Amino acid sequence: MRETQLSVDSLVMPFFVREGKNIKKPIVSLPGNYQFSIDNLIKEVKAAKSLGIPAVLLFGIPDKKDEFGSGAFAKDGIVQKAISAIKVKVPGILVIGDVCLCEFTSTGHCGVIKKVTKTPACPAGLPDRQAGRQGNVIIDNEATLDLLSRTALSLVEAGADMVAPSAMADGQVRAIRLILDSNDYSQVPIMAYSAKYASGFYGPFREAAQSAPKFGNRKSYQLDPANSREALREILLDVQEGADIIMVKPALAYLDIIAKAKEKINLPIAAYNVSGEFSMVKAAAKAGWIDEKKITLEILNAIKRAGADIIISYHSMEVAKVLRKL
Ligand code: PBG
Repeated sequence: MRETQLSVDSLVMPFFVREGKNIKKPIVSLPGNYQFSIDNLIKEVKAAKSLGIPAVLLFGIPDKKDEFGSGAFAKDGIVQKAISAIKVKVPGILVIGDVCLCEFTSTGHCGVIKKVTKTPACPAGLPDRQAGRQGNVIIDNEATLDLLSRTALSLVEAGADMVAPSAMADGQVRAIRLILDSNDYSQVPIMAYSAKYASGFYGPFREAAQSAPKFGNRKSYQLDPANSREALREILLDVQEGADIIMVKPALAYLDIIAKAKEKINLPIAAYNVSGEFSMVKAAAKAGWIDEKKITLEILNAIKRAGADIIISYHSMEVAKVLRKL
C-alpha cells in the first residue's frame, strides 16, 4: 500500500571520463566519484550493470579545449571513444550522452559566445556580484545549435542510445531531432534538460568536469530559481520540439516543478539529483551530523514521490546496493 516505491530500475548513474590509462582520479567535492580513463570506466559501468542500474550518463574531460568546444563533436572525442568501448564491452546497459559544450569550451560556457555586455546578468533577480562586475554573456544561439546538433549526431554515431541536451540553447531539441532524423536515427530518444536552473548546486560538478565559466555566469541561458511558470513554458517548448523525456534540474530544491510537470505533461519525467545535493549529504554524514543512508533514501523517495520516473544521481550505485540488500 506504500504509495511510492523507489526501485533500481529508475536510477541513472553519471560518470566522468578522461583520456589516459589506468586513471581513477578522485573528485574531492564529490566523495566516491572519480574521473576515470576508459579502461577503468568500463569496470565501473560493469559494476553498475551488475547492480541492476539500467543506464549511465557520460561527461567528458578533454585534454584540449577551444572556443567552439570542438572536443564535444570530434569523432575521436573522449566521450565518443568511451561510448564505443562501453557498447562493445558492456552490452545491455543504456548509454546516455550529455550534449553540451561547457566541458569542451575554453570559456567554460555551454555555447559559443557572441559578446560580453557590461550590464549585470540579472538586475532584477538574485544579487550576483560577479555578474555585476563582469557583465553578462550573450550566446550566439544559431552557431551553438549547429555545434550541439553535430555533438548529438557524433555521440549517436559512436553508439549512444539516447542524447540529453543540457546547454539550454533555444531550439536545441528541434535542431537535434532534425539532424538525428535526417541521418536515420529517428528511433533515438532525446531526454531534454528542459527546466534547468541557474543553480548554486552545480558547484561540485564544475570541479568534477572542470567546466566552471571563466567569466560571467549562466544566467542568460539557465532559469531564474524564483520562477516556476517560466519552467513550464520551457518544458512545453521542448515537448513541441520533440523531446521524449523532459528533465527538471536540480531536483531537491525544485520538487514543486517536478510535481507540476508530472501533472501537466504526458511524457516521462526525469530529475537530476545534482552534485551539490549529493555533496551536502556526504559532508554532513562525514561530520557525523546525519544518518547518511536514511537521508539518502528519504531524498530519492521524495524526488520519486514528487513525480520523477527517472532519477539521475551520484548516489545511484550506493542506493542500488541498499535496495537490492547487498
Ligand atoms: C552542463 C551540465 C551541468 C551539469 C550537468 N550538465 C553543469 C552546469 O550547467 O554548470 C550539472 C550536474 C551536477 O551538478 O551534478 N553540461
